[in-house]
Amino acid sequence: MKITLVAAMDEHRLIGNHGILPWPFLPNDHAHVERLIAGKKTIMGRKSYDTPDRIWSKAGNIVVTSQPNYQVDPGFLVMNSIEEALDYYKNEEEVMVLGGAQIYSETLPKAHVLELTLIHGQFKGDAYFPEFSTDVFDLIHRQDHPQDDKHSVAYSFLTYQRR
Ligand SMILES: NC(=O)c1ccc[n+]([C@@H]2O[C@H](COP(=O)([O-])OP(=O)(O)OC[C@H]3O[C@@H](n4cnc5c(N)ncnc54)[C@H](OP(=O)(O)O)[C@@H]3O)[C@@H](O)[C@H]2O)c1
Repeated sequence: MKITLVAAMDEHRLIGNHGILPWPFLPNDHAHVERLIAGKKTIMGRKSYDTPDRIWSKAGNIVVTSQPNYQVDPGFLVMNSIEEALDYYKNEEEVMVLGGAQIYSETLPKAHVLELTLIHGQFKGDAYFPEFSTDVFDLIHRQDHPQDDKHSVAYSFLTYQRR
């Protein structure tokens, strides 16, 4: 099973600001993430599940929480550890990890691929993607997008693969 982390971050690896994205909505990034996760199972932390910007897959999603009786919407399952979630998905070809900061930190050591949107700028917030080494992950694809009418900041789609 391939484990892919999917995240958008600014130039300082910032990913969130009190439960919302720190930058203005970027429709192309949203569409990019929807394409990446289409038909695939996902894992997310309870706090990311519980945000207005929540992203999910029609194929199935697991919310990880320590709370025993946490209630979720249809299309979501609850598990009490990341190991349990990964085990549940063990026959999948690829599993998409959708954050947030805590879940990214806990899954980065197991990740095979990082699908990152780099937002060109520095924003305010309180949640960060973990540091990772380019000695461990090779940049295998990069697509740059300038600012335009619908995107108030420039952004790049980056794919890193574990060596
Ligand atoms: N830019 C992006 O791509 C992106 C993507 C996703 C999220 N975000 C942002 O990230 C922020 C949220 O990140 P976060 O770090 O605060 O929260 P999070 O990682 O989404 O969720 C953390 C919660 O997940 C549960 N959890 C984590 N590890 C667990 C484990 N090993 N076992 C059992 N439960 C576990 C716990 O839930 P309980 O407290 O219920 O036990 C924990 O409080 C928000 O600002 C959001 O907007 C950004």
